[in-house]
Amino acid sequence: MPLFSGRPVFVLGTGMHVPEKILTNQELEKMVETTNEWIIERTGIHTRHIAAPGELTSDLAFAAGVQAMKTAGVTVDDLDMVLVATNSPDTVFPGVAAKVQGMLGANCSGAADIQSGCTGCVYALAMGSAGIAAGLWDNVLVIGAEVLSSLIDWQDRNTCVLFGDGAGAVVLSSNEAGNLARILASDLRSDGTKHDLICFPGGLVQNPASEKTLEDNLHKVQMKGNEVFKFVNQALPGFLHESCERAGIKASEIDWWIFHQANLRIIDSVLRRLGVEPARAIVNLEKYGNTSAASVFLALHEAVAVGRLLPGQKILITSFGAGMTYGDIILEMQGEGHVQG
Ligand code: COA
Repeated sequence: MPLFSGRPVFVLGTGMHVPEKILTNQELEKMVETTNEWIIERTGIHTRHIAAPGELTSDLAFAAGVQAMKTAGVTVDDLDMVLVATNSPDTVFPGVAAKVQGMLGANCSGAADIQSGCTGCVYALAMGSAGIAAGLWDNVLVIGAEVLSSLIDWQDRNTCVLFGDGAGAVVLSSNEAGNLARILASDLRSDGTKHDLICFPGGLVQNPASEKTLEDNLHKVQMKGNEVFKFVNQALPGFLHESCERAGIKASEIDWWIFHQANLRIIDSVLRRLGVEPARAIVNLEKYGNTSAASVFLALHEAVAVGRLLPGQKILITSFGAGMTYGDIILEMQGEGHVQG
Protein backbone atom coordinates (compact mmCIF):
# COMPACT_ATOMS: atom_id res chain seq x y z
CA MET A 1 0.00 0.00 0.00
CA PRO A 2 1.70 3.28 -1.02
CA LEU A 3 2.52 5.46 1.96
CA PHE A 4 1.38 9.07 1.73
CA SER A 5 4.18 11.55 1.11
CA GLY A 6 3.93 15.34 1.25
CA ARG A 7 2.20 17.04 4.16
CA PRO A 8 0.88 14.81 6.97
CA VAL A 9 -2.90 14.30 6.92
CA PHE A 10 -4.97 13.96 10.09
CA VAL A 11 -8.49 12.89 11.00
CA LEU A 12 -9.93 15.56 13.30
CA GLY A 13 -13.45 14.26 13.89
CA THR A 14 -16.17 11.83 12.87
CA GLY A 15 -19.97 11.84 12.71
CA MET A 16 -22.95 9.78 11.63
CA HIS A 17 -26.67 9.96 11.13
CA VAL A 18 -29.27 7.28 10.45
CA PRO A 19 -32.99 7.67 9.79
CA GLU A 20 -35.34 7.05 12.71
CA LYS A 21 -37.31 4.15 11.24
CA ILE A 22 -35.94 0.68 11.99
CA LEU A 23 -36.89 -2.27 9.78
CA THR A 24 -36.48 -5.66 11.46
CA ASN A 25 -35.95 -9.10 9.92
CA GLN A 26 -39.34 -10.09 11.34
CA GLU A 27 -40.98 -7.27 9.40
CA LEU A 28 -39.15 -8.43 6.25
CA GLU A 29 -40.59 -11.93 6.79
CA LYS A 30 -44.00 -10.37 6.14
CA MET A 31 -42.81 -8.65 2.94
CA VAL A 32 -40.85 -11.38 1.10
CA GLU A 33 -40.26 -15.13 1.40
CA THR A 34 -37.45 -15.07 3.95
CA THR A 35 -36.80 -15.80 7.60
CA ASN A 36 -35.05 -14.03 10.44
CA GLU A 37 -32.85 -17.12 10.84
CA TRP A 38 -31.79 -17.16 7.14
CA ILE A 39 -30.87 -13.46 7.19
CA ILE A 40 -28.87 -13.75 10.42
CA GLU A 41 -27.11 -16.96 9.38
CA ARG A 42 -26.19 -15.76 5.86
CA THR A 43 -25.43 -12.11 6.64
CA GLY A 44 -25.36 -11.29 10.37
CA ILE A 45 -27.92 -8.51 9.85
CA HIS A 46 -30.74 -8.07 12.41
CA THR A 47 -32.11 -4.60 11.62
CA ARG A 48 -31.55 -1.69 9.24
CA HIS A 49 -32.67 1.96 9.21
CA ILE A 50 -34.90 3.20 6.41
CA ALA A 51 -35.36 6.83 5.34
CA ALA A 52 -38.79 8.41 5.69
CA PRO A 53 -40.57 9.50 2.51
CA GLY A 54 -38.91 12.74 1.39
CA GLU A 55 -35.81 12.16 3.53
CA LEU A 56 -32.98 12.47 1.01
CA THR A 57 -29.35 11.34 0.85
CA SER A 58 -28.32 14.99 1.12
CA ASP A 59 -30.30 15.33 4.39
CA LEU A 60 -28.50 12.37 5.98
CA ALA A 61 -25.15 13.54 4.57
CA PHE A 62 -25.66 17.04 5.97
CA ALA A 63 -26.52 15.75 9.47
CA ALA A 64 -23.48 13.43 9.56
CA GLY A 65 -21.25 16.20 8.21
CA VAL A 66 -22.41 18.70 10.85
CA GLN A 67 -21.62 16.21 13.63
CA ALA A 68 -18.17 15.44 12.19
CA MET A 69 -17.37 19.16 11.97
CA LYS A 70 -18.53 19.67 15.56
CA THR A 71 -16.36 16.87 16.92
CA ALA A 72 -13.46 18.12 14.76
CA GLY A 73 -13.86 21.69 16.00
CA VAL A 74 -13.89 23.14 12.49
CA THR A 75 -16.32 25.70 11.11
CA VAL A 76 -17.83 26.01 7.64
CA ASP A 77 -15.33 28.78 6.89
CA ASP A 78 -12.48 26.28 7.40
CA LEU A 79 -13.71 23.90 4.69
CA ASP A 80 -11.90 23.74 1.34
CA MET A 81 -13.69 20.73 -0.10
CA VAL A 82 -16.77 18.58 0.50
CA LEU A 83 -16.54 15.06 -0.97
CA VAL A 84 -19.57 12.80 -0.83
CA ALA A 85 -19.32 9.11 -1.67
CA THR A 86 -22.74 7.84 -2.71
CA ASN A 87 -24.51 5.43 -5.02
CA SER A 88 -27.94 6.84 -4.28
CA PRO A 89 -27.66 10.57 -4.98
CA ASP A 90 -30.85 12.65 -4.73
CA THR A 91 -30.44 13.26 -8.48
CA VAL A 92 -27.66 12.32 -10.92
CA PHE A 93 -26.93 16.02 -11.09
CA PRO A 94 -26.56 18.20 -9.18
CA GLY A 95 -24.48 15.99 -6.92
CA VAL A 96 -25.11 15.52 -3.21
CA ALA A 97 -21.83 17.23 -2.24
CA ALA A 98 -22.86 20.52 -3.87
CA LYS A 99 -26.21 20.42 -2.05
CA VAL A 100 -24.49 19.71 1.28
CA GLN A 101 -21.95 22.51 0.69
CA GLY A 102 -24.91 24.83 0.03
CA MET A 103 -26.81 23.65 3.12
CA LEU A 104 -23.69 24.22 5.23
CA GLY A 105 -23.04 27.64 3.69
CA ALA A 106 -19.41 26.61 3.19
CA ASN A 107 -18.84 29.42 0.73
CA CYS A 108 -15.11 28.90 0.14
CA SER A 109 -15.43 25.16 -0.45
CA GLY A 110 -15.57 23.05 -3.57
CA ALA A 111 -17.84 20.02 -3.78
CA ALA A 112 -17.76 16.71 -5.64
CA ASP A 113 -19.50 13.36 -5.51
CA ILE A 114 -17.41 10.21 -5.74
CA GLN A 115 -19.29 7.32 -7.31
CA SER A 116 -17.32 4.13 -7.03
CA GLY A 117 -19.73 1.59 -5.61
CA CYS A 118 -19.51 0.91 -1.89
CA THR A 119 -15.75 1.56 -2.13
CA GLY A 120 -16.54 5.24 -2.80
CA CYS A 121 -15.91 5.88 0.91
CA VAL A 122 -12.30 4.68 0.72
CA TYR A 123 -11.77 6.45 -2.63
CA ALA A 124 -13.09 9.71 -1.13
CA LEU A 125 -10.86 9.35 1.94
CA ALA A 126 -7.81 8.70 -0.26
CA MET A 127 -8.61 11.59 -2.63
CA GLY A 128 -9.26 14.02 0.24
CA SER A 129 -6.01 12.93 1.88
CA ALA A 130 -4.08 13.28 -1.39
CA GLY A 131 -5.41 16.83 -1.83
CA ILE A 132 -4.27 17.78 1.66
CA ALA A 133 -0.89 16.02 1.35
CA ALA A 134 -0.25 17.88 -1.92
CA GLY A 135 -1.06 21.25 -0.32
CA LEU A 136 -4.19 21.87 -2.40
CA TRP A 137 -6.58 21.86 0.58
CA ASP A 138 -6.31 22.21 4.36
CA ASN A 139 -9.67 20.88 5.54
CA VAL A 140 -11.84 18.36 3.71
CA LEU A 141 -15.23 17.06 4.83
CA VAL A 142 -15.58 13.49 3.55
CA ILE A 143 -19.05 11.94 3.74
CA GLY A 144 -20.51 8.59 2.75
CA ALA A 145 -24.30 8.71 2.45
CA GLU A 146 -27.00 6.46 1.05
CA VAL A 147 -30.75 6.15 0.73
CA LEU A 148 -30.57 2.86 -1.16
CA SER A 149 -34.04 1.93 0.13
CA SER A 150 -35.44 4.03 -2.76
CA LEU A 151 -33.47 2.00 -5.33
CA ILE A 152 -34.21 -1.48 -3.98
CA ASP A 153 -36.85 -3.84 -5.28
CA TRP A 154 -38.73 -4.66 -2.08
CA GLN A 155 -40.03 -7.83 -3.69
CA ASP A 156 -36.50 -9.16 -4.40
CA ARG A 157 -35.38 -11.15 -1.38
CA ASN A 158 -31.86 -11.42 -2.85
CA THR A 159 -31.25 -7.72 -2.25
CA CYS A 160 -33.93 -6.17 -0.01
CA VAL A 161 -32.81 -7.93 3.17
CA LEU A 162 -29.26 -6.61 2.84
CA PHE A 163 -29.32 -2.85 2.53
CA GLY A 164 -29.99 0.04 4.92
CA ASP A 165 -29.87 3.83 4.81
CA GLY A 166 -27.44 6.09 6.66
CA ALA A 167 -24.55 8.52 6.48
CA GLY A 168 -21.18 8.87 8.13
CA ALA A 169 -18.51 11.54 7.90
CA VAL A 170 -14.90 12.36 8.67
CA VAL A 171 -13.04 15.68 8.75
CA LEU A 172 -9.54 15.43 7.25
CA SER A 173 -7.07 18.20 7.93
CA SER A 174 -3.47 19.37 7.63
CA ASN A 175 -3.86 20.65 11.20
CA GLU A 176 -2.34 18.35 13.79
CA ALA A 177 -3.84 20.01 16.89
CA GLY A 178 -6.18 17.72 18.81
CA ASN A 179 -6.19 15.15 16.03
CA LEU A 180 -7.71 11.72 16.36
CA ALA A 181 -5.63 9.81 13.81
CA ARG A 182 -3.06 10.19 11.08
CA ILE A 183 -3.55 8.80 7.57
CA LEU A 184 -0.63 6.54 6.64
CA ALA A 185 -1.26 4.75 3.36
CA SER A 186 -3.87 3.79 0.80
CA ASP A 187 -4.37 1.45 -2.15
CA LEU A 188 -7.24 1.56 -4.66
CA ARG A 189 -8.13 -1.09 -7.25
CA SER A 190 -10.84 -2.07 -9.68
CA ASP A 191 -11.79 -5.02 -11.88
CA GLY A 192 -14.12 -3.43 -14.41
CA THR A 193 -14.52 -6.70 -16.31
CA LYS A 194 -16.98 -7.58 -13.54
CA HIS A 195 -19.14 -4.48 -13.92
CA ASP A 196 -22.27 -6.59 -14.32
CA LEU A 197 -22.15 -8.09 -10.80
CA ILE A 198 -23.87 -5.11 -9.13
CA CYS A 199 -25.64 -2.49 -11.19
CA PHE A 200 -28.49 -0.04 -11.45
CA PRO A 201 -29.07 -0.18 -15.18
CA GLY A 202 -32.12 1.97 -15.86
CA GLY A 203 -32.80 5.61 -16.56
CA LEU A 204 -29.60 6.89 -18.14
CA VAL A 205 -27.65 6.67 -21.39
CA GLN A 206 -27.58 2.90 -21.79
CA ASN A 207 -31.25 2.38 -20.93
CA PRO A 208 -33.15 5.67 -21.03
CA ALA A 209 -36.34 5.52 -18.97
CA SER A 210 -39.21 3.96 -20.88
CA GLU A 211 -42.17 1.70 -20.23
CA LYS A 212 -39.90 -1.20 -21.20
CA THR A 213 -37.23 -0.31 -18.59
CA LEU A 214 -39.98 -0.16 -15.97
CA GLU A 215 -41.39 -3.52 -17.08
CA ASP A 216 -37.88 -5.05 -17.01
CA ASN A 217 -37.31 -3.69 -13.49
CA LEU A 218 -34.16 -1.82 -14.59
CA HIS A 219 -34.79 1.04 -12.15
CA LYS A 220 -33.84 -1.17 -9.20
CA VAL A 221 -30.52 -2.50 -7.86
CA GLN A 222 -29.55 -5.76 -9.57
CA MET A 223 -26.99 -7.97 -7.87
CA LYS A 224 -25.45 -11.38 -8.47
CA GLY A 225 -24.95 -11.86 -4.73
CA ASN A 226 -23.23 -15.20 -4.80
CA GLU A 227 -20.75 -14.07 -7.49
CA VAL A 228 -20.01 -10.91 -5.48
CA PHE A 229 -19.40 -13.09 -2.45
CA LYS A 230 -16.96 -15.30 -4.37
CA PHE A 231 -15.18 -12.35 -6.04
CA VAL A 232 -14.55 -10.63 -2.70
CA ASN A 233 -13.34 -13.79 -1.03
CA GLN A 234 -10.98 -14.41 -3.90
CA ALA A 235 -9.69 -10.83 -4.46
CA LEU A 236 -9.58 -9.23 -1.03
CA PRO A 237 -7.27 -11.43 1.09
CA GLY A 238 -4.34 -11.27 -1.39
CA PHE A 239 -4.91 -7.56 -2.00
CA LEU A 240 -4.96 -6.73 1.72
CA HIS A 241 -1.90 -8.88 2.36
CA GLU A 242 0.03 -7.17 -0.46
CA SER A 243 -1.21 -3.77 0.62
CA CYS A 244 0.07 -4.21 4.17
CA GLU A 245 3.38 -5.52 2.86
CA ARG A 246 3.86 -2.46 0.62
CA ALA A 247 3.12 -0.19 3.59
CA GLY A 248 5.74 -2.05 5.64
CA ILE A 249 3.09 -3.23 8.12
CA LYS A 250 2.27 -6.88 8.87
CA ALA A 251 -1.42 -7.88 8.91
CA SER A 252 -0.80 -9.02 12.50
CA GLU A 253 0.22 -5.43 13.39
CA ILE A 254 -3.18 -4.01 12.40
CA ASP A 255 -5.09 -3.54 15.66
CA TRP A 256 -8.55 -3.03 14.17
CA TRP A 257 -10.03 -3.97 10.79
CA ILE A 258 -12.96 -1.88 9.61
CA PHE A 259 -14.51 -3.75 6.67
CA HIS A 260 -17.35 -2.64 4.46
CA GLN A 261 -20.28 -3.83 6.57
CA ALA A 262 -21.84 -6.01 3.86
CA ASN A 263 -21.85 -9.47 5.36
CA LEU A 264 -20.36 -10.92 8.55
CA ARG A 265 -19.42 -14.12 6.71
CA ILE A 266 -17.29 -12.14 4.23
CA ILE A 267 -15.50 -10.32 7.07
CA ASP A 268 -14.83 -13.56 8.94
CA SER A 269 -13.62 -15.51 5.93
CA VAL A 270 -11.30 -12.76 4.64
CA LEU A 271 -9.78 -12.36 8.12
CA ARG A 272 -9.39 -16.14 8.45
CA ARG A 273 -7.46 -16.21 5.15
CA LEU A 274 -5.21 -13.44 6.49
CA GLY A 275 -4.64 -15.38 9.73
CA VAL A 276 -6.28 -12.61 11.78
CA GLU A 277 -8.68 -13.21 14.70
CA PRO A 278 -12.31 -12.25 13.86
CA ALA A 279 -12.35 -10.31 17.16
CA ARG A 280 -10.04 -7.74 15.50
CA ALA A 281 -12.93 -6.59 13.28
CA ILE A 282 -15.15 -3.64 14.18
CA VAL A 283 -18.65 -4.77 13.26
CA ASN A 284 -21.99 -2.96 13.49
CA LEU A 285 -23.79 -4.41 10.47
CA GLU A 286 -26.23 -6.23 12.76
CA LYS A 287 -27.86 -2.84 13.46
CA TYR A 288 -27.53 -1.03 10.13
CA GLY A 289 -27.21 -3.67 7.37
CA ASN A 290 -25.18 -2.77 4.31
CA THR A 291 -25.20 1.04 4.10
CA SER A 292 -22.95 0.93 1.03
CA ALA A 293 -20.59 3.93 0.80
CA ALA A 294 -21.55 4.99 4.34
CA SER A 295 -20.83 1.73 6.14
CA VAL A 296 -17.18 2.10 7.14
CA PHE A 297 -17.84 5.63 8.39
CA LEU A 298 -20.62 4.36 10.69
CA ALA A 299 -18.32 1.65 12.06
CA LEU A 300 -15.42 4.09 12.55
CA HIS A 301 -17.62 6.71 14.22
CA GLU A 302 -19.20 4.26 16.67
CA ALA A 303 -15.80 2.81 17.59
CA VAL A 304 -14.43 6.32 18.20
CA ALA A 305 -17.52 7.40 20.12
CA VAL A 306 -17.13 4.63 22.70
CA GLY A 307 -13.36 5.10 23.00
CA ARG A 308 -12.58 1.67 21.52
CA LEU A 309 -9.64 2.88 19.40
CA LEU A 310 -6.58 3.75 21.45
CA PRO A 311 -3.56 5.99 20.74
CA GLY A 312 -0.85 4.16 18.79
CA GLN A 313 -3.25 1.59 17.33
CA LYS A 314 -3.32 0.96 13.60
CA ILE A 315 -6.67 0.77 11.83
CA LEU A 316 -7.20 -0.64 8.34
CA ILE A 317 -10.39 0.44 6.57
CA THR A 318 -11.36 -1.57 3.50
CA SER A 319 -14.32 -1.76 1.17
CA PHE A 320 -15.53 -3.37 -2.06
CA GLY A 321 -18.46 -2.77 -4.34
CA ALA A 322 -19.97 -2.15 -7.75
CA GLY A 323 -17.39 -1.89 -10.48
CA MET A 324 -16.03 -4.16 -9.05
CA THR A 325 -13.93 -1.70 -7.06
CA TYR A 326 -12.01 -2.30 -3.87
CA GLY A 327 -9.49 -0.45 -1.78
CA ASP A 328 -8.08 0.26 1.64
CA ILE A 329 -6.60 2.99 3.80
CA ILE A 330 -4.52 2.71 6.97
CA LEU A 331 -4.72 5.16 9.88
CA GLU A 332 -2.77 5.38 13.09
CA MET A 333 -4.64 6.60 16.15
CA GLN A 334 -2.96 9.60 17.78
CA GLY A 335 -5.33 10.82 20.46
CA GLU A 336 -8.41 9.27 22.03
CA GLY A 337 -10.34 11.95 20.21
CA HIS A 338 -13.81 12.76 21.34
CA VAL A 339 -15.44 10.02 23.36
CA GLN A 340 -19.00 10.88 22.50
CA GLY A 341 -20.89 8.44 24.66
N1 COA B 1 -34.24 -15.47 2.31
C1 COA B 1 -34.28 -16.81 2.10
N2 COA B 1 -33.65 -17.39 1.08
C2 COA B 1 -32.96 -16.62 0.24
C3 COA B 1 -32.89 -15.23 0.40
C4 COA B 1 -33.56 -14.65 1.49
N3 COA B 1 -33.53 -13.35 1.73
N4 COA B 1 -32.11 -14.72 -0.59
C5 COA B 1 -31.72 -15.75 -1.34
N5 COA B 1 -32.24 -16.90 -0.86
C6 COA B 1 -32.08 -18.27 -1.36
C7 COA B 1 -31.68 -18.29 -2.83
O1 COA B 1 -32.80 -18.14 -3.65
C8 COA B 1 -31.07 -19.67 -2.93
O2 COA B 1 -32.09 -20.63 -3.02
P1 COA B 1 -31.95 -21.91 -3.99
O3 COA B 1 -30.79 -22.68 -3.41
O4 COA B 1 -33.26 -22.57 -3.84
O5 COA B 1 -31.67 -21.35 -5.34
C9 COA B 1 -30.40 -19.87 -1.57
O6 COA B 1 -31.00 -18.90 -0.69
C10 COA B 1 -28.90 -19.64 -1.61
O7 COA B 1 -28.65 -18.46 -2.34
P2 COA B 1 -27.21 -17.87 -2.48
O8 COA B 1 -27.28 -16.62 -3.27
O9 COA B 1 -26.27 -18.94 -2.94
O10 COA B 1 -26.91 -17.54 -0.94
P3 COA B 1 -25.59 -17.01 -0.30
O11 COA B 1 -25.17 -17.92 0.77
O12 COA B 1 -24.57 -16.62 -1.34
O13 COA B 1 -26.10 -15.68 0.43
C11 COA B 1 -25.99 -13.33 0.00
C12 COA B 1 -26.66 -14.65 -0.33
C13 COA B 1 -26.55 -12.25 -0.89
C14 COA B 1 -26.28 -13.02 1.47
C15 COA B 1 -24.46 -13.48 -0.19
O14 COA B 1 -24.21 -14.03 -1.47
C16 COA B 1 -23.77 -12.16 -0.09
O15 COA B 1 -23.72 -11.53 0.93
N6 COA B 1 -23.11 -11.74 -1.19
C17 COA B 1 -22.40 -10.52 -1.23
C18 COA B 1 -23.35 -9.39 -1.41
C19 COA B 1 -22.72 -8.10 -1.13
O16 COA B 1 -21.86 -7.98 -0.30
N7 COA B 1 -23.21 -7.11 -1.84
C20 COA B 1 -22.83 -5.79 -1.65
C21 COA B 1 -21.52 -5.52 -2.22
S1 COA B 1 -21.32 -3.85 -2.11
